[in-house]
Amino acid sequence: MHRTTRWLLALVLSVPVVASAQPTAAPVARYETRADHDPNGIGKFFMGREIAHVMGHQAADWLERPGREKEERTDLLVPALKLKSGDAVADIGAGTGYYTRRLAKAVGTNGLVFAVEIQQEMLDILTNKLAAEKVFNVRPVLGTITDPKLPRAAVDLILMVDVYHEFDHPFEMAQAMCRALKPGGRMVFVEFRGEDPDVAIKLVHKMTEAQVRKEMAAQPLEWVETIATLPQQHIIVFRKKP
Ligand SMILES: C[S@@+](CC[C@H](N)C(=O)[O-])C[C@H]1O[C@@H](n2cnc3c(N)ncnc32)[C@H](O)[C@@H]1O
Repeated sequence: MHRTTRWLLALVLSVPVVASAQPTAAPVARYETRADHDPNGIGKFFMGREIAHVMGHQAADWLERPGREKEERTDLLVPALKLKSGDAVADIGAGTGYYTRRLAKAVGTNGLVFAVEIQQEMLDILTNKLAAEKVFNVRPVLGTITDPKLPRAAVDLILMVDVYHEFDHPFEMAQAMCRALKPGGRMVFVEFRGEDPDVAIKLVHKMTEAQVRKEMAAQPLEWVETIATLPQQHIIVFRKKP
C-alpha cells in the first residue's frame, strides 16, 4: 500500500466516533396497555379506545342467523354503497362471507371481491358457501393482523362490517388498506353506534362516529358522508385523497 494511503487510513481509523449533538427522537408509542380494562377488550388502547377481542370462528353461525336481515336491515347496506358493475371491492374481516356474497352480486361477473380474513376456519366456511351458491368472482385472502395482503392501488371500495374495532393493529391495517385503494377509492366503516345507549351491544364492540373520524384523520383519507339508514349501525364513508 502506498505510504500516503496507509497514513490516511490510519488517520480515519483513529478518529473517534463523535456522538451526534442532535437529540434522537423517541419512538412513538402508538398503543397503550392498561391492566384495568373492560373484560370484553384486550387491554390494548388506540387513541383512547380499547380494542375488542376478535370474534372466534366458533360463533360463525351467528353471522348467518336468519333474523340478521330484519335486525340489522342488511338489505339496505349494499345498495347504499352505490357499487358499479365491474368494480373491485375488498370485504375485510369477511367472516363467513355474508356480505362477500352480496357484494359479489352487486359488482357482477366482471367485478371482483377480495374476501380478507385472519382466521383460516372462516375462509373455509366462506369458500364452501361460495361454491354452494356458484359464486366465482371472489378471491379469498388470508391476511395478518397488520396486513390485509391486498395488491396496491387495486380496489375501488373497502368494506368493514363490524370489524374495525377488533383490529389488533388498527393504524397499520388502515395504512395498508389505504395503499390498496385506487386514488379516489372509498373506505367504508359499518359499526354499531357507540353514541347510542339503545344499541344493545357491548361497549368495546361499538364505535362512535367521532372516534372513527379521529383515527382516520391520521390516514390519507377525507370523510365523505355518514349514512344513517340502518337501525343500529352507522355507515361511515371516507375517500382516498388524490
Ligand atoms: C364480527 S366478525 C364480522 C364478519 C363479517 N364482516 C360480517 O359482518 O358478517 C369480525 C371478523 O373480522 C375478522 N378480523 C379481525 N381482525 C382482522 C384483521 N386484522 N384482518 C382481517 N380480518 C380480521 C375476524 O376474524 C372476524 O371473522
